[in-house]
Amino acid sequence: MIVCSCNVITMAQVKGAIADGASRPRDVYCACGKSAQCGCCTPTILSIIREEPSRRAA
Ligand code: FES
Repeated sequence: MIVCSCNVITMAQVKGAIADGASRPRDVYCACGKSAQCGCCTPTILSIIREEPSRRAA
């Protein structure tokens, strides 16, 4: 599933970035070698960060 259509970042990439320590959408973009474009996916990435078990346990 594509989370960021501008950068073609997938859900798996977002979760991988979070597992590697990304705690903000900017960190996720950076981990994928991308940067925010339109910003439409930022709320979605933020909610994924908040829902990830690794983040909740922290
Ligand atoms: S959809 Fe992610 S920056 Fe546009």
